[in-house]
Amino acid sequence: MQNKELEQAVSKRRTFAIISHPDAGKTTITEQLLLFGGVIRSAGTVKGKKSGQFAKSDWMAIEQQRGISVTSSVMQFDYQGKRINILDTPGHEDFSEDTYRTLMAVDSAVMVIDAAKGIEPQTKKLFQVCRMRGIPIFTFMNKMDRDAREPLDLIAELEELLNIEAYPMNWPIGMGRDLRGLYDIYNQRVALYHPDADGRQYLPLDKETGEIIGDHPLKKESIYQQALENTQLLLEAGNQFDTAKIAKGEQTPVFFGSALTNFGVKTFLENYLEYAPAPAAHKTQDDDLIEPVASEFSGFVFKIQANMNPNHRDRIAFIRVCSGEFERGMDVTLERTQRKLRLSNSTEFMANTRESVESAVAGDIVGLYDTGNFQIGDTIYTGKRHIKFEKLPQFTPELFVKVDAKNVMKQKSFHKGMNQLVQEGAIQLYRTYLTNDYVLGAVGQLQFEVFQFRMKNEYNSDVIMEPMGEKIARWIDPAQLDEKMSSSRNLLVRDQNDAPLFLFENEFAERWFKQKYPDIKLTEKLSTN
Ligand code: G4P
Repeated sequence: MQNKELEQAVSKRRTFAIISHPDAGKTTITEQLLLFGGVIRSAGTVKGKKSGQFAKSDWMAIEQQRGISVTSSVMQFDYQGKRINILDTPGHEDFSEDTYRTLMAVDSAVMVIDAAKGIEPQTKKLFQVCRMRGIPIFTFMNKMDRDAREPLDLIAELEELLNIEAYPMNWPIGMGRDLRGLYDIYNQRVALYHPDADGRQYLPLDKETGEIIGDHPLKKESIYQQALENTQLLLEAGNQFDTAKIAKGEQTPVFFGSALTNFGVKTFLENYLEYAPAPAAHKTQDDDLIEPVASEFSGFVFKIQANMNPNHRDRIAFIRVCSGEFERGMDVTLERTQRKLRLSNSTEFMANTRESVESAVAGDIVGLYDTGNFQIGDTIYTGKRHIKFEKLPQFTPELFVKVDAKNVMKQKSFHKGMNQLVQEGAIQLYRTYLTNDYVLGAVGQLQFEVFQFRMKNEYNSDVIMEPMGEKIARWIDPAQLDEKMSSSRNLLVRDQNDAPLFLFENEFAERWFKQKYPDIKLTEKLSTN
C-alpha cells in the first residue's frame, strides 16, 4: 500500500465496543447496525432470537466446529464511506478480564443504557476502564418504547454516578405507549415514531422558536410541549456541546431511542460517525508514539481465546493493528522473545465474509491461530525499530477459588500448566501468606471454567477448586503491613509480584478494617502499574 492509500484507509476506520449491563440491548442495537451495514438481512440473526434459529452461514459452521465464537468477537462493515469495527464485550456468564481488555483495543465506546433502569453495575465498571483511557464515549438510552425513567433524571444520574458531562443530542417526546417521537436538537428536526413502519418521518424545526414548522397535531399535545420546555432548559442551563471534551471522554453525547423498534438508531450511527475518532497514535513503554500511518507494521495482543473443543487445541490471539499494514504470511518480530514469526495462518473477523484476511491496517483486528507463541499484551512488529507498547492494565479480580492438583503425584504438570496459564494472562494467581496455598482470582466465573478445562486438556492435570466467593481485593503498602492485621474476614495473600493484599469478605469488613487502621492506605488495581 502506498503512503497515501494507507492514510486514506486508516482515516476510514472507526473501531469501538459497546459497553452495557446484560439485557440493556447491546445485541439488539448491534443487529440494527449490522443491518445498516448490509451484513445481515433481518434482525434476530446475531442471537437467533426472533427467528428462532441462528444464521447458518458457512462461517458459523466453522465456528461451531471449532467451538470458538469468532464472528461475534469482531464485526466489520462499511457505512457511508467508513469502515466500522465493533468489538464484542461479552457480558452475562462470559464476563471476564477479556471483556475489560477488549476496551484497550478500541478508539471509542458506545454505552447502551436501559432507560427504565439507568446506570447498572457492569456499565459502571466498563465505563471506568474507558475513562481511564480517556477515549470518547457515546451514550444510547435504550427502550424508550417502554415506560422509562424521566429523561432529566437519567441525565442527572449519568452525570453524577459516572462523573461525566452529558449533552443530549435528542430528547424523547413521550415514552412507552405514548412515545411520539424524538426532538432532535442536533439535527434540528422532530423524528416521528411509528412502531410498525420502517420509514421515518421527519418534521423540520423553526430555527428561531425551536417549534415544528407549520401545523401538526403533535404541537397540541402536552408531551410535545414538555419535551420542548426540557430541551430549551437544557440548551440554556445545561452543558455546551464541546468536541474537545467529547474527544477526551469528558463529555458524552446522549441519544434516546429504541433499538428493538429501530427508532433513533440510524441517526445515532450517523452522528456517532461524525464525531468518533479514527485510529490515533499508540504509546510505547519508552514514551514514543507510533503513528497509525507509519509504514512498518505493529500491533499488540489484547485477548487470547482458547478453543474449548478438544479436537482443536489451537487458540486465537487477537491483535489490534496499530500501524502499517498487516499482510498474510508476513514475518514479524515478537518483542518479548525477539524471535521472528511468520504470520501465515490468520483470520480477519468479518461478519459478511469468511475470507481470511489479506491485509488490515490500524484500527483493524486480526485473529491469528496460535500454538502457544503469544501472551496477552505482547507486541509484534516489522522493521528494525524496537517497539514495545504500553502494558495492559491489571483488573482487580472479584471472584476467588482455592486451587490444588487432584493427584498429589502430578504436581509437576500442575505447576507447569498453572504457570503458563497465569503468564498468558488467563487468570490471576495469589498465595496465602501463612500457608502458601494457591488462590486464583478472576473477574468472571468463566475464567475458572476455562482454566480447569485447559489444565486437563493441555497439561493433563486435574484440578480441584474450592470456591471462596466474591471478595474485595485491596493492596497494602508492604512497609505498613503487619501480619496480625489479617483475620478470617480479610485474608492476606501475595500476588504474582509478591505484593501483599487483603481479600476482604465484604464491604463491611473493609470498612471495619479502615476504622481500626485509619492510617493504612488500601489501593484497588486498575492501572498499568
Ligand atoms: P444484551 O445483548 O444487552 O444482553 O440485550 P439484548 O439485545 O439481548 O436485549 C435484551 C432484551 O431487551 C431482549 O428481550 C430485547 O428484545 C429487549 N430489548 C432490546 N432493546 C429494546 C428496546 O428498544 N425496546 C424494548 N421494548 N425491548 C428491547 P428478551 O425478552 O430478553 O429477549 P427476546 O424475547 O426478545 O429474545
